[in-house]
Amino acid sequence: MKKKLLEFLISHSKNNGFIFPSSEIYGGINAIFDYGQYGVELKNNIKEYWWKSMVQINDNIVGMDSSILMHPNVWKASKHASKFNELLIDNKTSKKRYRPDLLIMNHVKKYFKKNPDERNKIVSRLLKFLKKKDLLGIKKIIDELNICDPLTKTKDWTNIRYFNMMFEIKNFKNLFLRPETAQGSFCNFQNVRITNRFKIPFGIAQIGKSFRNEITARQFLFRLREFEQMELQFFIYPKKEEEKLWYEYWKNYRLKWHFELNLGKEKYKLFNHDSLAHYASIGMDIEFDFPFGFKELEGIHSRRDFDIKQHELFSKKKLGISEVNGKTIIPYVIETSLGLDRIFLAILFSSLKKEILKNGKTRVVLKLPSFLSPIKAAILPLVNKDGIPDIAKNIFNNMKIHYPMIYDNKGTIGKLYRRQDAIGTPLCFTVDYLTKNTNTVTVRYRDNMNQQRIHIKEISKLIEKETGLKNILNRISNN
Ligand code: GAP
Repeated sequence: MKKKLLEFLISHSKNNGFIFPSSEIYGGINAIFDYGQYGVELKNNIKEYWWKSMVQINDNIVGMDSSILMHPNVWKASKHASKFNELLIDNKTSKKRYRPDLLIMNHVKKYFKKNPDERNKIVSRLLKFLKKKDLLGIKKIIDELNICDPLTKTKDWTNIRYFNMMFEIKNFKNLFLRPETAQGSFCNFQNVRITNRFKIPFGIAQIGKSFRNEITARQFLFRLREFEQMELQFFIYPKKEEEKLWYEYWKNYRLKWHFELNLGKEKYKLFNHDSLAHYASIGMDIEFDFPFGFKELEGIHSRRDFDIKQHELFSKKKLGISEVNGKTIIPYVIETSLGLDRIFLAILFSSLKKEILKNGKTRVVLKLPSFLSPIKAAILPLVNKDGIPDIAKNIFNNMKIHYPMIYDNKGTIGKLYRRQDAIGTPLCFTVDYLTKNTNTVTVRYRDNMNQQRIHIKEISKLIEKETGLKNILNRISNN
């Protein structure tokens, strides 16, 4: 059922200008996608929502945009060069690469459905081997279970080994595409602090591309090789009590941000990590109920002083902060990291509905949070004659300076409404013969399809009321 939903979502996204497979005319490229004309608008609106709620309304947070390529020593210092690894196994016949832990998990999910005791035994053995980094032990499970390649059904596996997930630039030794934006914030932490005369606590926010050579990149926008992150590094006094306080603060702040999207609170779950990334002391995921089950949407971690200390060590520059008592401290860092493509997928998936209408017909409608809709309103002439299109075009020309709008006269009114439903336009204004004498139009609401007559002068106010971001920012800032 959920698989079907995902297929429906992928085809709807493609057929309506949201997401296209990258380089499709050449057959596409695995786990890379392009955002189409409506996709880019939706993505920009999500970015704007994040940026305004993290940077604009917080006086002690500023943004920056650091480069994707950084000095090779950055990745040695951050330990991404040595520790940012995944497990890998090759099949010699198919020449395909797999993550052995996922091969095992998928196998037990499929073949041990009716035997939960045995399934749990295998999973806990796997977790034990993963924790101990016992690669031979993991391979033994694959052999014992007779797991074969999903493509060729052969069992000629190589040994399991580690594989670094950073993309190295050819011909430039040790130059990598960054796997997170965070290191740019750490390397500039003193520049930002000094030029802004900041005292801790303060934060640096970034939105930018990251790249990871994912072995099993699939599930549409969920696991990509090129993706965008929206990350905050928040620098605090290095004490455990402060760490606890700010960790809780940012967890609640980020949850509030998500809940304002109205996707349904039951679709979120918190998952506390036992095994943490190499830089973290505490961490949790905000998980979301994706078409393929609950999976990580956003990560919240305390990175303590790991990164700044490492950069001090490798750069030999002083990265501490002097206090009035002459002591120097290295701040702790609380990080929030949200994948832009993942939240895009979560929003799209939760908004796409197929509804049966009273007349028995179905309509496909994208009930996006209205403040994120790519197009805020459409102006539609009811007929293409008697000066009606001119009036409609005039309204459109006046409004398009203020909001992303569409003027559409190519079809019957029913067709025009369906087209706007499919891309999530919250309001449609129809111009008809009555408009000529009364200066009124019919407004039709996307979600309940109710209609109402309003004066042309009220259009702007209504769009603002229905699609503005101000009320939401107000609620978030009064946290
Ligand atoms: N700076 C910390 C960091 O990068 P992470 O948990 O590896 O932590 C943070 O990644 C977020 O980035 C994830 O919660 C997810 O939303 C997103 N993300 C990570 N890898 C991704 C991928 N291959 N494709 C899409 N989004 C990804």
